[in-house]
Amino acid sequence: MSRAAGDLRDRLQALEAEGRAELASAATPDDVEELRVRYLGRKGRVTRELQGLGALAPDERPAVGEAGNRVKAALAEALDARRAALQEALESAALAADRVDVTLPGRVPREGLRHPISIALDELRSIFREMGFETAGGPEIETAYHNFSALNIPEGHPAREESDTIFVRGTDLLLRTHTSPVQIRTMESRPPPIRLLAPGRCYRNDAPDATHSPVFYQIEVLVVEEGITLGHLKWTLERFARAYFGRDVRLRFRPGYFPFVEPGAELDVACVFCGGAGCATCKGSGWIEVLGSGMVHPAVFEAVGYDPERWSGFAFGTGVERLAMLKHGIPGIRLFYENDLRFLAQFAGG
Ligand code: PHE
Repeated sequence: MSRAAGDLRDRLQALEAEGRAELASAATPDDVEELRVRYLGRKGRVTRELQGLGALAPDERPAVGEAGNRVKAALAEALDARRAALQEALESAALAADRVDVTLPGRVPREGLRHPISIALDELRSIFREMGFETAGGPEIETAYHNFSALNIPEGHPAREESDTIFVRGTDLLLRTHTSPVQIRTMESRPPPIRLLAPGRCYRNDAPDATHSPVFYQIEVLVVEEGITLGHLKWTLERFARAYFGRDVRLRFRPGYFPFVEPGAELDVACVFCGGAGCATCKGSGWIEVLGSGMVHPAVFEAVGYDPERWSGFAFGTGVERLAMLKHGIPGIRLFYENDLRFLAQFAGG
């Protein structure tokens, strides 16, 4: 073999050794690709050396050419093997990185809870359903007539004052301040007998504090029949209070004034926070007022076209949040509206 042919073959073999050495330190499949271009590409080192074949004598070309092809094949195979190994390492690293621990206990999805006000309303509805009351509602946007005038609250009465009532500007409409207008709408719509429970949302222009919220719930109760007396009112109130608060609740009935009843009375329950001994919540009295009530005023019957000589009735109204606060010892009305799950979840069972 001529000197030139021997040198070319040696250079090709040296390139194979060099290529394998560089390949050993390739760290990524991209590094491998770069080496492939550098050695075996169209302008790669091996390719360029093989162009030197043309300068050899024709009878020497096959042997050196064959050696060159072996180098090419060996390098190509080494490149493929290294690339495959690096690719596999990358994939198993990625798999390990987002490996799922199938032995971890699952996350229990949160279930929705009924709101304590909904729970209280359901309890109240069922207490009155058992006593033969129907449930009805009325609009939250009311006329001044239904919310005040028909209830014997004349213009100029303090309860009509701008500061307590949220009016709809430019109209005689307002956001009802109590559920009592449902009394009027019910009596306007049909003759007695009536046994009505009217739960609903009410609005007052009050600054929020521990016992006031500008939006709150009331229930209204109205009974109209022949021969209804204060005794029926007391019996119903007591039955309702014992059903809602428990048999042992201590109650106190005392006179109170509301323009749409005569006589009027308020019902107090013994303070749940101090058991009646006197505390800050009951202002030392041991009692907490829970509702207003009374015998339907003749002027109200006249407003709806009922004959006050024939019919008599009683009504009462009370705040639902206040009832729930007393029943469960909840210290502030705002808790109902802040949607703190730590508070709400305590009522899950009803
Ligand atoms: N509507 C009165 C209030 O909001 C409560 C009440 C209702 C009083 C029925 C007497 C009769 O305070």
